[in-house]
Amino acid sequence: MSAERSSQDRAKQAAADAAADLVQNGMLVGLGSGTTLRMFVRSLGLRVSQGLTMTGVSTSESTRALAIELGIPVADLDDVGELDVAIDGADEIDPAGQMIKGGGGNLLWEKMVATAAKSFVAVIDGSKTVAQLGRFPLPVEVVRFGWRSTARQIRGLFVESGYLDVAITLRGGEAAPFVTDSGHFILDCQLDAITHPEALAIGLDSIAGVVENGLFINIARSAIIGRPDGSVERISYEG
Ligand code: 5RP
Repeated sequence: MSAERSSQDRAKQAAADAAADLVQNGMLVGLGSGTTLRMFVRSLGLRVSQGLTMTGVSTSESTRALAIELGIPVADLDDVGELDVAIDGADEIDPAGQMIKGGGGNLLWEKMVATAAKSFVAVIDGSKTVAQLGRFPLPVEVVRFGWRSTARQIRGLFVESGYLDVAITLRGGEAAPFVTDSGHFILDCQLDAITHPEALAIGLDSIAGVVENGLFINIARSAIIGRPDGSVERISYEG
């Protein structure tokens, strides 16, 4: 490991390595997306090169490409049954395990893979743990058609729910909007403090034009939190 590596990267690496050790022969594993997950996929690739037999189901084109490059067998979500575990990063996670995800723009596939798995492990560095969700802008994936109209309806929901003056930003900007692997746009919503995440997630999903929202509610079963010294803390959200 390079001496110049940031302490956050060392923490991510510790969590990624510990998560790779969870994978056992024969498992079907959801492979998340983001920088921490790329470290995890590299660790997993090493184990596969040493004889581990498993199959991954990717949450993004970029993770899929990396897994294939490393010799990890990859299947399509449609071609497999229930996954043993989904392993993914998070942008924020609260003490109950509720998360904001989608900072990398992969929230739709990530949520589909997460909810197709028996369990979900969040692989994070300590900066992702928060007392309350919302400082990280909530990503909302919307269809391109009528996205401004959808944004107005999202604002209406926020106001009705007591979230006033929320900045809603088209990711990438209007000149060169970010486009997801499914061809949609993302609206980043600066809520600051999300008081009722479950109700907000349901409200967002009821707006026509919203494809998915970045609130992952009651999905995480555990978290592995990496520290810069290479140690990890494990948290369970069950029971
Ligand atoms: C991508 C995600 C990522 O898991 C999240 O953004 C964390 O990324 P990183 O590991 O790079 O901090 O939800 O859509």
